[in-house]
Amino acid sequence: MNQTSNTVRFVLDGAIVEASGEHHSTSVLDYLREHLGRSGTKEGCAEGDCGACVVLLGELDPSGTAINYLPVNSCLQLVPTLEGKSVKTVESLRHADGSLHPVQRAMAESHGTQCGFCTPGIVMSLTGLVQTVSSPTRSEINDALSGNLCRCTGYKPIIDATLKACEAPDGQLRLDDDKDLPLLRQLRDARAQPPLVRTADGREFFTPGTVAALADYLGRHPDATLLAGSTEIGLQVNKQFARPARIVYLGQVAALRQVEDRGAFWRIGAQVSLSTVQALVAQAYPDFAEVLRRFGSPPIRSTATLAGNIANGSPIGDSMPCLLALGATLLLRRGDVTRTLELERFYTGQKKNALQSGEFIEAIELPKPAPGRVFRAHKVSKRFDQDISATCCAMSYRLLDGKFADVRLAYNGLAPSPCRAPRLEAVINGRAPDAVTAVELEQAIAASFTARDGLRASWVYRSLLARNLVLQFVEEAAPTVAEATP
Ligand SMILES: Cc1cc2nc3c(=O)[nH]c(=O)nc-3n(C[C@H](O)[C@H](O)[C@H](O)COP(=O)(O)OP(=O)(O)OC[C@H]3O[C@@H](n4cnc5c(N)ncnc54)[C@H](O)[C@@H]3O)c2cc1C
Ligand code: FES
Ligand code: FES
Repeated sequence: MNQTSNTVRFVLDGAIVEASGEHHSTSVLDYLREHLGRSGTKEGCAEGDCGACVVLLGELDPSGTAINYLPVNSCLQLVPTLEGKSVKTVESLRHADGSLHPVQRAMAESHGTQCGFCTPGIVMSLTGLVQTVSSPTRSEINDALSGNLCRCTGYKPIIDATLKACEAPDGQLRLDDDKDLPLLRQLRDARAQPPLVRTADGREFFTPGTVAALADYLGRHPDATLLAGSTEIGLQVNKQFARPARIVYLGQVAALRQVEDRGAFWRIGAQVSLSTVQALVAQAYPDFAEVLRRFGSPPIRSTATLAGNIANGSPIGDSMPCLLALGATLLLRRGDVTRTLELERFYTGQKKNALQSGEFIEAIELPKPAPGRVFRAHKVSKRFDQDISATCCAMSYRLLDGKFADVRLAYNGLAPSPCRAPRLEAVINGRAPDAVTAVELEQAIAASFTARDGLRASWVYRSLLARNLVLQFVEEAAPTVAEATP
């Protein structure tokens, strides 16, 4: 983004596009359709659920020799976040001689489309998948499609089409980006600091390049809206017609995009996406990775951040029970000052938190597995994919002489914010697995939470889930105790 020209610059199929600062809060979807004539990309829901708007966003890899692509919901992303990136739409896939990409060809030949409204989004999700996995399994294809709704065809022909497309040589599956690569390098080398675009009526979109510039801007404009993955803010723009006077975007601050190994814990920067966190915890905490696999869909997780999930503070936020059970800590920054706060002390009410004016989450410290400590988590929702929790429960513990110790138990969906459940922890701590009773857990749940029915589940159902999930985790610990007993 160039401060003097007040334009956002990005690459589209071998050409640099310059969008004016007036598009401060225009969605990428609207810009593609209404200003660039790319009407292949569709609007279904405008809230990240249907996938009709999926496009691929390309970023130069650190070596500058390749482009990494991510599927995104273009309805949720704002135009100024495209600065220095490339975009691929369904129109980008057709070769110069008019022939189709193998995914498009296989979709047509395998009858993977009927009315066709979902098809461009599905083709882009699958094209994104085959950029990194040339022979995906059915399960990987299912995951890749979990954010694409098709109301007419049924998914079998679409999955068959993907498998068929993957019979094509790798070279044909890869996106043709020979012309984009030098242009992305050109944009990287020409980038001015610090970028800022403005609308004629004075609304600003600021993209700092460093944490210090971000902290300084927030110090001067504590009312500015922080933008990370845009999966919440995008909804506010589309559905509540929010037009913030000032937006400050974290996406170009390299330090916030890093995960650092600090020995006993990982330091996860505020702009690290949930897909990255999912891969990070896959070995260490498989249950956490599974909760994240069911968080939204790949286009949501490719941009949505862990910090955004925490800051948003929804009562049914899915990462927080896991983070609370694992003892995560937040690094909060204001000006030059950084303080640490345990996540369990962050929430002060429904969607209220301990952030002070001008303060932001800089990073999350996530403890690594400790010897003997067990972690379990499970999310319950009506649908397996792309659905909101009725509740998600996470528990970590140690077993000492066959008895539970250091139990940390947390839920979402039961209280105004995700929280630990100390009364339930007290029931379990110091007891052998077979000594923990359902009745005691029920009593502790009744004493801990205010019974209230929600849109997604009644209290009777939620409290039963809350009990049964713990019982399951407790019962699963019993064989470990039995094995250790001579
Ligand atoms: C289709 C769809 C499916 C979803 N599925 C799930 C789901 O399964 N589970 C779930 O829990 N959530 C879900 N969400 C909600 C959302 O994706 C998450 O809350 C996500 O983690 C938000 O992160 P973000 O980076 O996109 O935040 P943004 O939209 O960029 O920001 C969210 C909020 O956090 C603030 N913020 C962002 N970064 C910081 C920071 N560093 N410091 C302080 N404040 C900050 C912003 O100002 C804003 O108020 C879903 C949303 C959509 C649209
Ligand atoms: S239009 Fe439905 S996800 Fe974007
Ligand atoms: S083909 Fe009609 S919605 Fe999928």
